[in-house]
Amino acid sequence: MAPIEPFKIKVFTFVILCAVFLSYTFWLYSEVPAKSKPANTLAEKGKMIWQQKNCSACHQLYGLGGHLGPDLTNVYSRRPEIYIRAILQAGTPVMPDFHLSSKEKDALVAFFKYTNTTGTADPKSFTQHLDGTISQP
Ligand code: HEC
Repeated sequence: MAPIEPFKIKVFTFVILCAVFLSYTFWLYSEVPAKSKPANTLAEKGKMIWQQKNCSACHQLYGLGGHLGPDLTNVYSRRPEIYIRAILQAGTPVMPDFHLSSKEKDALVAFFKYTNTTGTADPKSFTQHLDGTISQP
């Protein structure tokens, strides 16, 4: 039997790698359910205020953002609502008072209530799987 041409081996390897890549990609995207929780309109307003006032200059959501203040993804379960409102009302020696109206405070609280339902912020609590995906407890 004649030896297989090196070019054919290369083409064969290329085709196999493409097939493996495509089937893995298909498996990954069809297996992992995309969990989407629609935000209600008040929480969406809160998100806009969060962006306009640039709260993420000092705070993180899901571990991303500035590090002068704490991560606020789960602040709603960590702190009583009245405490959150008090901070939003008056600021602290480090955090400026943004002179928010009571509607703006309601919206921000709704936003924190929403982010709290979307998962936990601490990546250390994530479980890493062999296929490279992560899940939360
Ligand atoms: C200049 C930096 C800075 C900015 C900008 C800022 N914060 Fe803060 N924030 C802090 C710091 C620092 C703390 C922690 C309390 C302290 O040490 O004064 C804090 C605390 C908080 C807390 C209480 C968190 C807890 O676990 O105690 C909330 C809620 C909060 N900020 C919301 C906001 C919102 C909403 C905005 C945007 C409108 C904002 N912050 C903008 C610095 C900032």
